[in-house]
Amino acid sequence: MTYVKRVPYVKRVTYVTLAVLVLVTGGCTPMAGGVQGTPGASGVQDPYFPRLGNGGYDVSHYALDLAFDPASGRLDGTARITARATQDLSAFNLDLAGLTVAKATVDGAPAAANRAGDELTLRPRDELRRGDEFTVTVDYSGVPEPLTDPDGSTEGWLNSADGALAVGEPAGSMTWFPGNHHPSDKASYEIALTAPSRLTALSNGVRVSAAPVSGDRTRTVWRQSEPMASYLATVMIGRYETTTGTALGDVPVVTAVDPSLTAATAALRAELPALLADQRDRYGPYPFGAAGAVVTADGLLGYALETQTRPVFPASSFDRTTLVHELAHQWFGNSVTPESWQDIWLNEGFATYAEWRYAEDHEDVPARSAFEDAFADEANWAFPPADPPAAENLFGAPVYQRGAMVLHKVREAVGDEVFDELLRGWAAKYRHANASTEDFTAYAETVAGRDLDAVWDVWLYGEERPANPG
Ligand code: ARG
Ligand code: ZN
Repeated sequence: MTYVKRVPYVKRVTYVTLAVLVLVTGGCTPMAGGVQGTPGASGVQDPYFPRLGNGGYDVSHYALDLAFDPASGRLDGTARITARATQDLSAFNLDLAGLTVAKATVDGAPAAANRAGDELTLRPRDELRRGDEFTVTVDYSGVPEPLTDPDGSTEGWLNSADGALAVGEPAGSMTWFPGNHHPSDKASYEIALTAPSRLTALSNGVRVSAAPVSGDRTRTVWRQSEPMASYLATVMIGRYETTTGTALGDVPVVTAVDPSLTAATAALRAELPALLADQRDRYGPYPFGAAGAVVTADGLLGYALETQTRPVFPASSFDRTTLVHELAHQWFGNSVTPESWQDIWLNEGFATYAEWRYAEDHEDVPARSAFEDAFADEANWAFPPADPPAAENLFGAPVYQRGAMVLHKVREAVGDEVFDELLRGWAAKYRHANASTEDFTAYAETVAGRDLDAVWDVWLYGEERPANPG
């Protein structure tokens, strides 16, 4: 899918994008008798990360072949990307941070490759016509570096004591593979990992094969067939104690925990199928063909993350509430994915509401009391959930807590029965797609059969805390 900019919320214009366009266009000559394509844009103008993602094409599939040597920290990769041109293209960009590109091809022919910052520009030998499907290969290598987020947390390729963990929300996936790294362009994935045979190598989706290769190494192939935003791609290589089983009838479940945590995590791990069934009953069919959870030793990752089909938890946040939160993201965030980072409350507000709902259903704490606690907390009123002031606020308290408060107010406005139908309908209507805040407000009003301005004005967009919780 392609991201369409919503004018009222644009925060920044990047002049760098324009400069790159001018530079690339300057060297362009028309092909004899052919159309004259233009370079694809170097970003999709996301309000918070204007150069994330790229214009001019849509990716349908990534095949990543990654060999990792934990001793040296070196990654050797080949990315094979299948895409369709959405304009006549003389050149296009991929996002890639660090690493060295040895070779790139488009439809088998060598393509000129240029690097500038986190942008890799490829110029195919033959221009691409709008509507053409094409295949890009990029051979690359190096020692990947983690990335520090605007909010100070760390993501990307993280080296552990015996392997590595790769995560990417919001922008870290470009530290380990070239791609169209904006959530609006979802694709299927096949991720092959070559690593020392004594280690476990996990990624998203189902494991399709594992075969020994030279040097006491194993090549393990994982397949994520349903669309995935690149920020949800993951790699876990290391010593893990794994279990396999099924949930929801026939969905394969893989859990992996750091060996030091086996005993402490056993009970909660065993609850995963029941928690998934509980959420399936609330939110509708589970959107993916695989499930699981990974628990790492503390110190590697500073937060839990809903990596698709295989959420990851630092040991200290592997508790039932956080597990409920990350599993709820499989519906809200991973299947229904924000159209831009401005829509992040559609992830975090919904996953937080799933925690409130779980506590109401199973722990005798009505969602209304969670709502009142959130209302009383000053931190939740720093900014409106639909309009975080800057990239460093995307994972701030109002996005989670006020995002959930919005949903509670919708519930109070429409009643429990319609609200349940609304959440299930939202997950169904935008299943495996992208959605924006405006999509949600319009959808909710359709289900409610009336406008809900009173909810949106105060709870979603309002700057000030109202006099009382209502
Ligand atoms: N999405 C994660 C969650 O489930 C949090 C990610 C935090 N990332 C960050 N860069 N601060 O809450
Ligand atoms: Zn979350």
